[in-house]
Amino acid sequence: MNTRIWIVDKYVDNLENNPQVVDAAQFLQNNEVVALPTETVYGLGGNAESDEAVAKIYAAKGRPGDNPLIIHIAEREQLTRFVAEVPERAKRLMDAFWPGPLTIIFKKKEGVLSETATAGLETVAVRMPDHPVALALLKTCGLPIAAPSANSSGKPSPTKADHVLDDLNGKIAGVLDGGPTGVGVESTVVDCTEAVPVILRPGGVTKEQLEAIVGEVHIDAALTNEAARPKAPGMKYKHYAPNAPLYMVSGTKEFLQHLVEKKQQEGLRVGVLTTVENMEWYQADLVLACGKRSALETVAAGLYDCLRKFNQENVDVIFSEMFPSTGVGHAIMNRLQKAAGNKLIRE
Ligand code: TXA
Ligand code: MG
Repeated sequence: MNTRIWIVDKYVDNLENNPQVVDAAQFLQNNEVVALPTETVYGLGGNAESDEAVAKIYAAKGRPGDNPLIIHIAEREQLTRFVAEVPERAKRLMDAFWPGPLTIIFKKKEGVLSETATAGLETVAVRMPDHPVALALLKTCGLPIAAPSANSSGKPSPTKADHVLDDLNGKIAGVLDGGPTGVGVESTVVDCTEAVPVILRPGGVTKEQLEAIVGEVHIDAALTNEAARPKAPGMKYKHYAPNAPLYMVSGTKEFLQHLVEKKQQEGLRVGVLTTVENMEWYQADLVLACGKRSALETVAAGLYDCLRKFNQENVDVIFSEMFPSTGVGHAIMNRLQKAAGNKLIRE
């Protein structure tokens, strides 16, 4: 398949009538799959009401069929079509964070969406992305769009159109290139079917931000206890892993540098994942700063690009600094732990 590339400037006016957006929307209406930029990461979109389109999403990504997709909408009224019940707590969260990096789990209305999109569950995950190109595409096609992150299953999520092409070129109808995404880690997934909302995946909206709107919020036990079964099926899979083994290092910079030197003496090419503040400090084969430690949102924005760069440079082993688990640091550490398969070296 020849994958089209539509380049769109997200700052131009009247995106809904932009010829590139209109072209991509037609592909979606014809049940083809198209990658689109969102404020978090690129998504691989397809008509959520079509079994044919949804099957193409799972096939292109190589995604396990028991892992449901997030449904993307541009207008809140679209919810009534496929959501059975919108509780008051969910309304408050939507008022505060939509459009934005918050996915809400609702009870599903049966018989509207493709059963495979929701992996046969009685619930459905929905979000309204805060990206002008995504919103224009959703409005123009007029469909609820199922969109997982547009990477091959297991790889880091794409924050640039080039990342999408690295994984999916030739496997999808096209990609709308709206430039790099902003947040850089995926949306927060919060289950609002329970009286107290539960975070199933930490992401762009922090626990502190949610609690400021709805009071108490729980965290799924699986996020702190490896033995517990996650309520978001996708959280049980290994994810984001670079090709080389990645170790999180808890300790001083001197300790991390010492680990690097030991591996280099064994003849290995060593990568270090650090921040702008500490970058000059390390001597290794590839030292990458994913952002500024003093501004964790920049670390979130640069993390996946760094993980992909280690692959391009063929390092044999990667050592990473750790981050505080507060605010967006919660999502950063969650993704880093998955990329490392929980491998941690303590000083
Ligand atoms: O920021 C994002 O959320 C991006 C962009 C493209 O919107 N999308 C994304 O989708 O990260 P994906 O498929 O990579 O992750 C969706 C997560 C998975 O962990 C999945 O198991 C969970 O949401 N999920 C989806 N529907 C669910 C449901 N009904 N109940 C529990 N978890 C659900
Ligand atoms: Mg994903």
